[in-house]
Amino acid sequence: MTAPASQPSSRPFALPGGVGDPRVPLIQVSDLSRIYQVGDVQIPALRGVTLEIRRGEFVAVRGPSGSGKSTFMNLLGCLDRPSGGRYLLAGEDVSTYDSDRRAQVRNRFIGFVFQGFNLLPRTTALENVEVPLFYNGTPHGEREGKARAALAEVGLTDRGHHFPSQLSGGQQQRVAIARALVNQPALLLADEPTGNLDSRTSVDIMALFQRLNRERGLTLLLVTHEPEIAHYAHRITVFRDGRLVEDRPVSGVRDAARDLAAMPPDPHLDGLA
Ligand SMILES: Nc1ncnc2c1ncn2[C@@H]1O[C@H](COP(=O)(O)OP(=O)(O)OP(=O)(O)O)[C@@H](O)[C@H]1O
Ligand SMILES: [Mg+2]
Repeated sequence: MTAPASQPSSRPFALPGGVGDPRVPLIQVSDLSRIYQVGDVQIPALRGVTLEIRRGEFVAVRGPSGSGKSTFMNLLGCLDRPSGGRYLLAGEDVSTYDSDRRAQVRNRFIGFVFQGFNLLPRTTALENVEVPLFYNGTPHGEREGKARAALAEVGLTDRGHHFPSQLSGGQQQRVAIARALVNQPALLLADEPTGNLDSRTSVDIMALFQRLNRERGLTLLLVTHEPEIAHYAHRITVFRDGRLVEDRPVSGVRDAARDLAAMPPDPHLDGLA
């Protein structure tokens, strides 16, 4: 596999290595808004959201369809810029960054997982996981080892040479999680990661997220429509009409690994979606 032709510029950005001062919350947003312009029509998708997320938190994001959850995640993930308000990531005001600098922040600090996995279809699991390493100049000789380690972290050591079509839905999502983890991000954003998975596989993926949160201190934000999935997080936020309308700790956080052990075994294949 060859490196993509265009790579973002290597202009330095101000965020310190690692996650900076551990006393500063990882995410601080104040009065964040996003208005989409479609022709002459303005759509206020986010209308002034203020919240803080500390390092190591596991936060679920809920709310009806169209309430602004994905818009919010895209802003946190530096995929998009706010129309108003401020976003500090590890104390650094990234809302003012241009697209090159946002790309660097994404590559270095943020992992994404989506409902549809978004894997390259004609590319093996291992090569899919290597993709982010092309963009930050990881030497060729180090890429495979890092990708293998990330696949091992998600329990897919023996599937590196499979193509996505040769993997179950749960396994494809694990590859996508390995790809999101390969640059050791501080923040993992998951937008309905279990939306295409059966309930057993969903709990399996949640057990993986809980382990990454607990053992690596990974800060996690997870959009979900399913109330029982949200109860694997430590905190639940609820959006409605572009506003944050609820923000509360979860009492009695469920342990996904324990729930999985109590479920009947999959009669077919392990992790089949
Ligand atoms: N690129 C876009 N251009 C114009 N309008 C958009 C765009 N993306 C989202 N919207 C609108 O912004 C609002 C919020 O959308 P968003 O995708 O953030 O909702 P959501 O909470 O993620 O919904 P769902 O649960 O269905 O994924 C909706 O009214 C949507 O139609
Ligand atoms: Mg959405």
